[in-house]
Amino acid sequence: MSNARYYLFFVLCLQWLSQVCDIFYQRVQWIKDLVQVSANPYQHYIIAPDSRTLYPTAISKINGTIENASRLIRKEGNPAVFNNVSAVTLDFGKNIAGLVSLAIANTTDETQSIGITFSESPQWISGLGSDATAEKGIDETFWIETPSPGLYLVPREHERGAFRYLSMIHKSVGEVKVSQVTTHFTAMPHYDEDQLRNYTGYFHCDDELLNHIWYAGAYTVQLCTIEPKHGNSMVHLNETVPSGTPRTWYNNGTIANGTSALVDGAKRDRLIFSADTFIALPSIVSSTYDLFTVRNSLDSLFARQDRSTGQLPYVGAPYPWVYSTTYHLYTLVCLADYYLFSGDAEYFASLWPQFKLALDFSLRAIDSTGLISVDSPHDWLRFGMGGHNIEANAMLYYVLCRSIAVARLRNDTAAPIIAWKQKGDRIKSAANAYLWDPPTGLYRDNMSTTLAPQDGNAWAVLSNLTQSDEQRAVISSTLARRWVATGAPSPEAHYAMSPFASGLELQAHLRAENATGALELMRRMWGFMLRNENMTGSTFVEGYSLDGSLRYAPYQNDAKLSHAHGWSSSPTSSLMFGVAGIRILAPGGRRWSIEPMLGDLKLVDAAFRTVLGRFGVRVTKRRTYTKALIHTPAGTVGKLRLEPLECDNVAEAWGRQGVRIKLRSRAGEQIEMDEIEGGRWEVVIICVG
Ligand SMILES: *[C@@H]1O[C@H](CO)[C@@H](O)[C@H](O)[C@H]1NC(C)=O
Ligand SMILES: *[C@@H]1O[C@H](CO)[C@@H](O)[C@H](O)[C@H]1NC(C)=O
Ligand SMILES: *[C@@H]1O[C@H](CO)[C@@H](O)[C@H](O)[C@H]1NC(C)=O
Ligand SMILES: *[C@@H]1O[C@H](CO)[C@@H](O)[C@H](O)[C@H]1NC(C)=O
Ligand SMILES: *[C@@H]1O[C@H](CO)[C@@H](O)[C@H](O)[C@H]1NC(C)=O
Ligand SMILES: *[C@@H]1O[C@H](CO)[C@@H](O)[C@H](O)[C@H]1NC(C)=O
Ligand SMILES: *[C@@H]1O[C@H](CO)[C@@H](O)[C@H](O)[C@H]1NC(C)=O
Ligand SMILES: *[C@@H]1O[C@H](CO)[C@@H](O)[C@H](O)[C@H]1NC(C)=O
Ligand SMILES: *[C@@H]1O[C@H](CO)[C@@H](O)[C@H](O)[C@H]1NC(C)=O
Ligand SMILES: *[C@@H]1O[C@H](CO)[C@@H](O)[C@H](O)[C@H]1NC(C)=O
Ligand SMILES: *[C@@H]1O[C@H](CO)[C@@H](O)[C@H](O)[C@H]1NC(C)=O
Ligand SMILES: *[C@@H]1O[C@H](CO)[C@@H](O)[C@H](O)[C@H]1NC(C)=O
Repeated sequence: MSNARYYLFFVLCLQWLSQVCDIFYQRVQWIKDLVQVSANPYQHYIIAPDSRTLYPTAISKINGTIENASRLIRKEGNPAVFNNVSAVTLDFGKNIAGLVSLAIANTTDETQSIGITFSESPQWISGLGSDATAEKGIDETFWIETPSPGLYLVPREHERGAFRYLSMIHKSVGEVKVSQVTTHFTAMPHYDEDQLRNYTGYFHCDDELLNHIWYAGAYTVQLCTIEPKHGNSMVHLNETVPSGTPRTWYNNGTIANGTSALVDGAKRDRLIFSADTFIALPSIVSSTYDLFTVRNSLDSLFARQDRSTGQLPYVGAPYPWVYSTTYHLYTLVCLADYYLFSGDAEYFASLWPQFKLALDFSLRAIDSTGLISVDSPHDWLRFGMGGHNIEANAMLYYVLCRSIAVARLRNDTAAPIIAWKQKGDRIKSAANAYLWDPPTGLYRDNMSTTLAPQDGNAWAVLSNLTQSDEQRAVISSTLARRWVATGAPSPEAHYAMSPFASGLELQAHLRAENATGALELMRRMWGFMLRNENMTGSTFVEGYSLDGSLRYAPYQNDAKLSHAHGWSSSPTSSLMFGVAGIRILAPGGRRWSIEPMLGDLKLVDAAFRTVLGRFGVRVTKRRTYTKALIHTPAGTVGKLRLEPLECDNVAEAWGRQGVRIKLRSRAGEQIEMDEIEGGRWEVVIICVG
């Protein structure tokens, strides 16, 4: 043999050896997997605490003289002594929520007191008040009058929804000695404290940034899960004051029945909104499977339905009753999603008449064009809602498709399935005729504008309002061309950066099979948020400016911005359902599909649970082979699809019974195995040509 041949032989041997080693490694992982069926192998990424008693982790600033301030973070030594006019800002290391308590060791006299202020962002740390929960002003300082030594617990209506920085202010001549500051963590009120980190799902890949993003999204939604008697009390809904003016704040409004509720933001608004739930719900399924909370929250929206018209509210109680065409539809999608992921047919059945009543209301708004005409300005605080809006029409088309599927599942012969199908087809053809704009490669917002919105174009792809793969690809690449350094802007919201609308865009890129695009947007936008020094490094903000500053176009009051908004958690579900590609197709997961799309990743290991059990996939991708281990509950049935390699493929699959299957496919073809029984499968595709 010539040297070149030896070399080739050597390379092939190495390649073979590395494949064998890799397969061996995967086997070991797989066995480990069997042992720890429910444990999360990536526990250390979880941001949620392991105890409800939280201590500050660092002192971020001291004003004036405070002796032995380190006591406040070390829990030992002599008490901290606040001397004359002085203040300290403590950092809890991550965004948290709860009730503060102070242990006062002693004071010089009865006139002493300590004030406390909160902030999620370091930008609003102040001795004058907290960051804001209302449209105007800032939230006033909470004063603890300290006539005698003892433990002071902030009353429950002054539970702070979210904060990372806690400041303690002393304003008089004299001394106050403080021996401890703690916060009782109030999020996820219905969980035992040792359950807060017991996630039912996990995600891991070979990109650390994406791993951290996944867990920050999951934690953001946990912070937005609150005790329903401590929502917004709406005391300052209509008042105006000059900016920066301190004003009262209380978190004691009742927003739902039951023991937990899912709100838009942890600091504010602390109200139930269906659009926020639409993004948070699949994040919950991916991480904690806390569908109990989703159900309580949906109950409170359906309890407010106007039974004479069928209209659902824009917001849950105690917000004044307002209608929104899109949020009405989001509520219906959330109920259908709840049913899909929980398999709770009984609960769905109890609301199905109300669902149909609400759908009828939307259908009555369809005019002679075949499209729904929007007559409510309310949406996610984007402007220009009205007319034959693309987002609303794509959503209605989607709701009709979901309604037909559910009616069939329920054997509801009274449901007007044929009429629904006709109306849906009509929306699809009319929207494409009137609103699709081939020269720009996007849909227009409505018939009287050239603005091409982010939300409506994302929804058109998500809902399958688009008519071909090519059209989806055009939208995906046109949207990607609008990206800036800080993410994907929303022209329909004055080019604000909306992690909500961009969360929809993420799903659209994945639906267009552009995993590389979706991953790039996650890194760019959610990576920006996670690393920004003025954000919390642990939760995702509700919105910001094109230039990255903490100003969100719909608000005049920058201090009001919420840094833990469940609607910004889309990567948590997009990575699970889109990139790991685990999809639930029938209630509870009786039918599923696993279609990983790794983009530029080489390894993805992800799983979550439903009532039926665990759904997991571990995929390793190399130039010449791909290996996938999948794991689904017994008694279910599904489909596995793998991306093609750059060569002719041969796939070998080992099933539960040790059956070995060989599949051959030509270059560029997907490897697809349909009607696979639930259980454990291992599939290896290798290049042979
Ligand atoms: C601070 O602590 C040190 C020892 O840890 C102690 O000597 C000192 O008296 C304390 N200061 C005050 C004002 O209590
Ligand atoms: C606190 O103020 C009092 C009265 O003005 C003064 O006598 C004392 O020295 C001050 N203490 C400190 C530590 O500055
Ligand atoms: C508290 O401070 C007062 C006034 O300085 C002092 O008389 C008293 O002994 C102190 N009590 C304790 C328990 O340190
Ligand atoms: C500490 O002093 C700085 C500078 O004067 C001020 O901006 C800040 O609000 C003060 N912090 C507190 C908690 O009072
Ligand atoms: C949560 O997980 C921990 C550690 O695995 C375990 O000790 C604890 O019992 C679990 N708690 C619940 C409520 O499942
Ligand atoms: C705010 O104003 C609206 C009318 O503009 C009124 O219906 C509502 O009751 C007011 N809310 C409060 C809390 O004052
Ligand atoms: C909230 O608490 C404040 C202060 O205690 C009280 O005035 C108000 O009535 C409470 N509101 C509700 C809705 O309970
Ligand atoms: C609580 O349940 C009752 C009875 O179903 C309902 O009338 C009420 O609106 C619910 N409250 C909230 C805040 O959802
Ligand atoms: C619908 O009909 C099918 C076939 O008869 C049956 O298996 C299924 O249980 C029915 N579903 C419901 C919700 O009644
Ligand atoms: C999407 O719509 C096309 C027709 O435009 C149809 O062929 C396809 O089956 C639809 N896909 C889904 C998932 O419904
Ligand atoms: C996928 O997204 C990338 C951005 O990462 C974009 O450049 C590309 O055009 C998109 N591809 C398709 C086929 O849509
Ligand atoms: C953080 O806020 C400060 C003060 O507003 C500002 O100077 C700084 O540029 C901000 N940093 C980032 C990364 O936005």
